Amino acid sequence: MTAAADVGLAAALAAERRLVEAALRRRLAPAAGCPPRLRQAMTHSLLGGGKRLRPLLLLWSYDALRTRRASPRDEALAAAAALEMIHTYSLIHDDLPAMDDDDLRRGRPTCHVAFDEATAILAGDGLQALAFEILAGIPRRGADLVRVAAAAAGPSGMVGGQQEDLDAAGRPLTAALIRRIHAGKTARLIGAPLAMGALLAGRDAAAAADADRAGRVLGLAFQAADDLLDVEGSTAALGKTVGKDAHQDKATWVRLEGAAAARARTARLGRRGTRLLAQLLPPGPEGARLLALVRLLWERDR
Ligand code: IPE
Ligand code: IPE
Ligand code: MG
Ligand code: MG
Ligand code: MG
Repeated sequence: MTAAADVGLAAALAAERRLVEAALRRRLAPAAGCPPRLRQAMTHSLLGGGKRLRPLLLLWSYDALRTRRASPRDEALAAAAALEMIHTYSLIHDDLPAMDDDDLRRGRPTCHVAFDEATAILAGDGLQALAFEILAGIPRRGADLVRVAAAAAGPSGMVGGQQEDLDAAGRPLTAALIRRIHAGKTARLIGAPLAMGALLAGRDAAAAADADRAGRVLGLAFQAADDLLDVEGSTAALGKTVGKDAHQDKATWVRLEGAAAARARTARLGRRGTRLLAQLLPPGPEGARLLALVRLLWERDR
């Protein structure tokens, strides 16, 4: 990509992130009757930074795949906010002492450190429920969006992957096990925004499933990059403590095959996912922009 295109991408990302931040703030506000401490905990985690990659993927896949039957863009923005709530809930619970036991997230104390464990559990629960309420309220596509998000986040998706991630500690590591864990805990929530963007763009279930498939490969690359950053990145840039995975015996490519091979594998997965996605996109600037965004899933320093 040229320097000018880089600048254009950065500006487009910044503008889109501002929209997402505003939508998150708006959507958190109407939870009337929510106890102040719970609201503060949800706000702390949801509005405390984060790359917002899943909302961006949803919005830019919507833009790239848009048809005459597309839903209004505001509805895509609502779905994007909901997905970020589900992701944030997964991070709050992932950081709990019973799971990865982390005290730094998005450059701030984790939810259970800033508040307490019980409140952090409830803040995660609250964000997840709020997310599904938002998705269910989206006209025409609500039921489909709920189904896609629930399948991605649920027992055969993220939650199942998290269980396998915990169960894998101390067990012999194989490539198949790593693939299964990464496919569940991470890749489903990267496939989901592409699929949801396709649905809101007016595409059918088969097109959404194609987008989901490409996203899942990109999600494998994304987690491979996350594991590399745990070894090679910095706590300051990432906003989370590095060096934890080796300590906790996590199922990573770095542990199985070393950093150099893991780096090559990350790029291979990233290129394969990008190729799969590129095949689905009509020519045009929106598609090119989405492909530039997905590159940031596996080529990144934070
Ligand atoms: C971290 O996700 C958890 C993984 C699935 C690797 P992100 O790297 O997207 O975290 P934020 O949202 O930017 O904080
Ligand atoms: C997290 O994987 C996946 C989910 C939160 C579902 P990690 O445990 O590697 O994520 P980080 O490194 O804590 O962000
Ligand atoms: Mg984890
Ligand atoms: Mg973790
Ligand atoms: Mg990690």
